[in-house]
Amino acid sequence: MSNKQDQNHGGFTAETGFFGGNLPAGLLADYGSPLYVYNEDILRRRCRELTALVDLTRFEVNYSAKANSNPQLLSIVREEGLLVDAMSPGEIHLELAAGFRPQDILYICNNVSAQEMRFATERGIRVSVDSLSQLELFGQANAGGQVAIRFNPGAGAGHHAKVVTAGKDTKFGVSPDDIPLVKEILARHRIRLIGVNQHIGSLFMTTETYLQAAQTLLSIATSFDELEFIDFGGGFGVPYKKLSGQPRLDLEALGRGLTRIIAEFEAETGWSPRYHVEPGRYICAECGVLLGTVHAVKTVAGTAYAGTDLGFNVLSRPVLYDSHHDIEVYRTAGAPFGLPTPVTVVGNICETGDIITRDRMLPELTENDVLAVLDAGAYGSAMSSNYNCRLRPAEVLIQSDGQPRLIRRADTLDDLLAPYGQAS
Ligand code: LLP
Repeated sequence: MSNKQDQNHGGFTAETGFFGGNLPAGLLADYGSPLYVYNEDILRRRCRELTALVDLTRFEVNYSAKANSNPQLLSIVREEGLLVDAMSPGEIHLELAAGFRPQDILYICNNVSAQEMRFATERGIRVSVDSLSQLELFGQANAGGQVAIRFNPGAGAGHHAKVVTAGKDTKFGVSPDDIPLVKEILARHRIRLIGVNQHIGSLFMTTETYLQAAQTLLSIATSFDELEFIDFGGGFGVPYKKLSGQPRLDLEALGRGLTRIIAEFEAETGWSPRYHVEPGRYICAECGVLLGTVHAVKTVAGTAYAGTDLGFNVLSRPVLYDSHHDIEVYRTAGAPFGLPTPVTVVGNICETGDIITRDRMLPELTENDVLAVLDAGAYGSAMSSNYNCRLRPAEVLIQSDGQPRLIRRADTLDDLLAPYGQAS
């Protein structure tokens, strides 16, 4: 932290021009606090980095919309030429609204009802099932149809046990040991297997585990007739500790590794399928910042607290996974910053665990300081809730010309009553 921030606009976000010409405090004055702010240029840059990962026209990027399903952001991702994954009828609904065509969507469903599966098939959306039981369900309703299967390659990776989605300790995927049973169900319903996919977990910062799992999936694929696509999954990490110099994921090394194993695979098999990856966070985490306001400061038993409007209804990652997000402080022009001192930043939710960060070194905070929680674009708004009947915040896009555009209005009190059929 430096006194540069006296200009109310300092640090990393200023260096990257994140807010365009806008002051964070001005955005809060216009759109309310808290506020999700997204930067269009950063979103487009991340899309382009991943579409260029493997230099093959048959390589495609499926954006994992669970990370952020704001339809305006989905439209930008679509403009950048990405395809999209869906986890639920709701995601499919928003993706279609954002202009994706049914053939652009892969429904990677998990434990869905026949009705939810039909929601996709009736619209011509391809389905990937992740258990023998769901394959059977698909077969009963779609004899002679086409399906993909999500496999569990046997090893997972992730930033927290709760987001490791392969290996022995997870509900996801079909075990390769069950391939004979898979074949029996496919044959019985005359279903064609068109693709295999996997997702080993979320937020890897080194390439080895992903590449090994990709290789495992390729060898699983060879148990079947030539497939239309092979989907290696997402999980591409972003540096959440960039203010302390955390390096980025080495995309070039990852691209080289994937290119090599794909070339070897094609030389061995003579196949030429399409290859997909399924990143969510990598695409949208860094284009999003969550702004909030300090409303109270106090010290309890030696711990300094800054009480903000950034409760875990707005950003739940720190509470759910102990996730770190870098934080910047902005202050009205001219007001000086003190030296960094440990502060525990908390929200306004009625739970003791409502903590964004413990003992973070920040300049001593005071009422009306503006905080920016960085890298909040993925699994931020998407996982927000109305807990404590709090209103979910507005979302603003800083467009390429620097102009802010409202892309989600804040909830209103009437929104809270609407599902109950009542208006105030
Ligand atoms: N594909 C599948 C099948 C997935 O389940 C996921 C994420 C992805 C792709 C995209 O993963 P990504 O590239 O975003 O890591 N809420 C947690 C992350 C949960 C990820 C769930 N699945 C968090 O905030 O860290």
